[in-house]
Amino acid sequence: MTKQAKIGIVYHSGYGHTKVQAESILAGVSSVDGVHGQLIEAEAAAANLDPLDDLDGLVFGSPTYMGTISAGFKGFMDASSAKWMEGAWKNKIAGGFTNSSSQVGDKTGTLQAMSVFAAQHGMIWVGLDLPPGNNSSLGSDENLNRMGASLGAMAQSMADQGPDETPTKSDKDTAHYYGSRIAEATLRWMN
Ligand SMILES: Cc1cc2nc3c(=O)[nH]c(=O)nc-3n(C[C@H](O)[C@H](O)[C@H](O)COP(=O)(O)O)c2cc1C
Repeated sequence: MTKQAKIGIVYHSGYGHTKVQAESILAGVSSVDGVHGQLIEAEAAAANLDPLDDLDGLVFGSPTYMGTISAGFKGFMDASSAKWMEGAWKNKIAGGFTNSSSQVGDKTGTLQAMSVFAAQHGMIWVGLDLPPGNNSSLGSDENLNRMGASLGAMAQSMADQGPDETPTKSDKDTAHYYGSRIAEATLRWMN
């Protein structure tokens, strides 16, 4: 019988932009047959960690604040030390995404923090395998992976626009693709 995979998308979003990205990750996860995804707000996850034990994969999402993860997401990370002590999340699939207002914005620091966190838990980190977009004279902001990330999915949201306007469709499509990649990796890891 084909196994069913369960993936949680644990995210923090102060003003809604990273939530849009999280929703695209969820749509990508859910597009893969045999995989069920769910959004879990980071503060709620920190308050009740046990439901995460049952999941096969976790995708971490945070805005980049001051060059790294937000305090809202860090609270979840620190609360998870109880699970670290038990090795409860060992061998789950993991990935991460982040969003910020600047093109670079030091977003790599956020994904690095998440990948180290996943490694501490003994999780299996899945990077983004899309080639970098918008890095040649033929490129544009409409390219997938226009941020040129490898560690996870990045998005950029204009500082003066709400989450109904930004990030771009290309960033949402990049997140969708990444969600499907993590779902497929989870199925392969389980079988
Ligand atoms: C406290 C704080 C720190 C921020 N630091 C950065 C930063 O280091 N780099 C950047 O590009 N944008 C930074 N921003 C902008 C946010 O990353 C951006 O507005 C993002 O879209 C917010 O996502 P959210 O709506 O999910 O909270 C910062 C915003 C706040 C509130």
